[in-house]
Amino acid sequence: AGPRPLAGRHVLVTSGPTHEPVDPVRYLANRSSGKQGHAIAAAAAAAGARVTLVSGPVALPDPPGAVVVRVETAREMLAAVEAALPADVAVFAAAVADWRPAAAGSQKLKKGAEGPPGLALVENPDILASVARRSAGRPPLVVGFAAETTDVLAHARAKIARKGCDLIVANDVSAASGVMGGDRNTVLLIGRDGSVETWPTLDKDEVARRLVERLAAPASGAAP
Ligand code: C5P
Repeated sequence: AGPRPLAGRHVLVTSGPTHEPVDPVRYLANRSSGKQGHAIAAAAAAAGARVTLVSGPVALPDPPGAVVVRVETAREMLAAVEAALPADVAVFAAAVADWRPAAAGSQKLKKGAEGPPGLALVENPDILASVARRSAGRPPLVVGFAAETTDVLAHARAKIARKGCDLIVANDVSAASGVMGGDRNTVLLIGRDGSVETWPTLDKDEVARRLVERLAAPASGAAP
């Protein structure tokens, strides 16, 4: 590959958590710093791609060279992703909240004699699955992430089948791994054909560079 192996390609990346409002001052969210997703967007831009980064709330600077669309909720993230298509490659690194409060109150919930309020939840759209399963306009290469605390490989394999993506980047986010919020990551790359690559523990920037190299390689979806 040349110095700008992704020149002429549009790479779409999701990053960060989503915030799902409970009321005007409270929200539900996943833990996510956005570091890995932002690093992927930066690496893809450095490789010459046109990059759209759809990001939930994070405390990170915008990656150089990427067009950044900021969103709060999973539904906003889905809409921004759909608006950014078509893309040649889509990488879903965001930690999307699986559920949102069924009805976000327009007034702050008050503490009262009735005790804590019940919190009814409804399922959020699965952004990765909905893009990977599109019949028209599916990006040719769709990459998902699997953050697991146990049985990383087994869960990642099941996830590929369930979501319909081409590649899964799986990592162990158990407390002992130090991945959450940290600067380093240990990942497995699992292909749709069942292939598995184990990468050493690397800086998230280096994970991003290697992943982008893989995305630029011809037919990088399935076979290593
Ligand atoms: O099912 P799970 O959340 O473990 O799947 C993780 C993968 O799916 C990640 O790539 C994540 O960005 C994506 N995802 C999504 N929309 C959701 C949930 C997960 O895009 N609602």
